[in-house]
Amino acid sequence: MYKLWCVFGAMLAVAAGMDRSKLPPTCDSLIYCHGPLLDTVQMAGLYNDSKTFVDMKLKLSANITMEHFKEMMARTGSHPTKADIQEFVNQNFDPEGSEFEEWRPTDWKDNPAFLQRIKDPLLHQWASELNRLWLQLGRKMKEDVKQNQDLYSIIYVDNPVIVPGGRFREFYYWDSYWIIKGLLLSEMRSTAKGMVSNFMNIVERIGFIPNGGRIYYAMRSQPPLLIPMVQIIMEDMDDEEFLRQHIHTLDREFDFWMTNHTVEIDHEGHRYTLARYYDQSQGPRPESYKEDIDCAKHFDTNDKKEELYAELKAAAESGWDFSSRWFILNDTNKEVQRQINELLMLTGYRQVGGNLTNLKTRSIIPVDLNAIMCWNAQLLRDFHTRLGNIDKAEYYRNVHARFMEAIEKVLWHEDVGVWLDYSLESRRRRDYFYPSNVSPLWTGCYDVARKEYYVNRVINYLDKVKVDIFDGGIPTTFEHSGEQWDYPNAWPPLQYIVVMGLANTGLPEAMRYANEIATKWVRSNFEVWKQKTAMLEKYDATIFGGFGGGGEYVVQTGFGWTNGVIMAMLNRYGDALSAADAFGTGAAESSGAVYGAHVGASGVATAVLVVLASVAAGALGLMVYRKRKDYIRVSGGEDYKLLSRRPYTELRSLNGASNPRQR
Ligand SMILES: *[C@@H]1O[C@H](CO)[C@@H](O)[C@H](O)[C@H]1NC(C)=O
Ligand SMILES: *[C@@H]1O[C@H](CO)[C@@H](O)[C@H](O)[C@H]1NC(C)=O
Ligand SMILES: *[C@@H]1O[C@H](CO)[C@@H](O)[C@H](O)[C@H]1NC(C)=O
Ligand SMILES: *[C@@H]1O[C@H](CO)[C@@H](O)[C@H](O)[C@H]1NC(C)=O
Ligand SMILES: *[C@@H]1O[C@H](CO)[C@@H](O)[C@H](O)[C@H]1NC(C)=O
Repeated sequence: MYKLWCVFGAMLAVAAGMDRSKLPPTCDSLIYCHGPLLDTVQMAGLYNDSKTFVDMKLKLSANITMEHFKEMMARTGSHPTKADIQEFVNQNFDPEGSEFEEWRPTDWKDNPAFLQRIKDPLLHQWASELNRLWLQLGRKMKEDVKQNQDLYSIIYVDNPVIVPGGRFREFYYWDSYWIIKGLLLSEMRSTAKGMVSNFMNIVERIGFIPNGGRIYYAMRSQPPLLIPMVQIIMEDMDDEEFLRQHIHTLDREFDFWMTNHTVEIDHEGHRYTLARYYDQSQGPRPESYKEDIDCAKHFDTNDKKEELYAELKAAAESGWDFSSRWFILNDTNKEVQRQINELLMLTGYRQVGGNLTNLKTRSIIPVDLNAIMCWNAQLLRDFHTRLGNIDKAEYYRNVHARFMEAIEKVLWHEDVGVWLDYSLESRRRRDYFYPSNVSPLWTGCYDVARKEYYVNRVINYLDKVKVDIFDGGIPTTFEHSGEQWDYPNAWPPLQYIVVMGLANTGLPEAMRYANEIATKWVRSNFEVWKQKTAMLEKYDATIFGGFGGGGEYVVQTGFGWTNGVIMAMLNRYGDALSAADAFGTGAAESSGAVYGAHVGASGVATAVLVVLASVAAGALGLMVYRKRKDYIRVSGGEDYKLLSRRPYTELRSLNGASNPRQR
């Protein structure tokens, strides 16, 4: 029986794709990426955050350190105590973050022009302080890093960078898109360009851009936004020489994604190529080593453990680490779980089925990644056209057209009225709400000749799922898994994608919707700022002025992309946006002192009521939403009449808070 099970298991492993024992480790380093030293130190759990150890600097060469490690192991009979290990680390490593020196951005400006566009004095003041935050987030690597790269896990780059903040003390790939957006608004052009140049240099050296600037990230990437970064640099500076100099590097970056991340899908008699997150390395994530090993304890064979590590790394590559978005229990089994959840929700308790052991990131075709790939192809087509590279332009024209078609045919769901992730396991679209479902609007990857049609469908969809009932922003999912890319957390880039996606269509209804979401987001972030004088990595969608939680580490402040997103929204809406709605008369308006309407004006009791109402309404919308099944045609909109759109402002007025609708 046992044998049979193993044979069956082996067959499954083969079916799943490959023998992972032949794959390379996450990087070569025997200190930072794999091997007994890493295993011993990380499994000892010396630090609350596993990333701390792999960010430390070696005092002596890797070889000598390995010798010291072997001596320590010999001395302790290969059973070192936690204190032995701590002593070994103290003697052989310098603290994390030793690679940087203070750096004040030289192109920083006190009063960049975009501030003038912000009419509300409180928001103007805030934006000015956000502009000042770049001074705290600038990092420059010490010369020693260049000379002795082997002593560091950081990937050396010539130009200083703006980091996200907190434990993220190196550059991150997709974060940098929104950081660069903000830097350009702050007119810090040379810092922005320097960061893009670093990325170019890294693509030349490594072949693609790792998740972040550490060698332990060197076998996985993050959402591919280098080419859009170059686009915003070009919009700002129109530097054709820069483009010409780097265009081949951009080709290479795109090619990496086409080569290492695409899969062919047979769908309704046609074959399409689409992208997914993927991983081709062995072992747990070095920076979350213990967490991954512990998670893999659930599996009995090495093969299955390796499959889990691959799913974890692929999920990390998606930027959504972690999320129920990447869980597949059993595409049918999930329906049962949903029904259980519906019952649980009646008692106010929400828990999604599944946990990290159910990760199937590699089996899911994500809407946002494909929308970005499509956008990349279009931008490369335009860049090559501009540079007169006719053949290349033609090549990308074709690639772009194929992505457009694949997104339309495989990901657009006519009945649901939005794009949905696609499961390679069930060969169905996954009908769950994610802000990323609307990302083709952001990247322009839909048939614009039928713009009104698509945009109306998408707005109906957003109404149906009631994204606008939440006081703190749009939640990442409606699943309460305890992971950080799930309900109730709201993430800045996702708000940006929805807002700009809708706003850029230019259609009045979409623009009003975008304005409303942006207003809510700006005000809620501002509320947190007033309380903590901090910008956070993520917030709580269900609470006005609430901050996010969950996941593998505590909430981080700083924060690169948060600042960039707020700046972009203030730049776009600042001429009309106010820190709070005025109460009827002009008095409040002129004093400018009333903000956070319901909290400030009506006290704690009202605030609690509002939260409760929002949670209850969220559960209600969720339940209706959950009744809808994948691929099952919804009949005549009956369900939705029942729960016609109830704008969040109306909800508030139910609780006595005056808060006239933006539109
Ligand atoms: C580690 O976590 C514990 C418990 O959460 C906390 O008391 C302690 O201060 C943390 N230590 C560090 C260095 O952050
Ligand atoms: C470290 O040791 C290995 C083999 O033990 C050797 O091949 C390598 O050259 C050494 N590296 C350095 C920097 O001494
Ligand atoms: C990309 O694919 C090639 C060919 O399969 C492989 O050798 C390489 O390791 C992959 N790169 C990454 C970062 O996974
Ligand atoms: C998935 O669900 C189907 C239908 O209920 C069932 O037949 C199958 O055994 C399930 N698979 C697993 C692995 O649970
Ligand atoms: C994850 O789910 C599996 C069942 O799918 C369960 O056996 C395991 O205990 C769960 N792990 C955690 C940490 O909840």
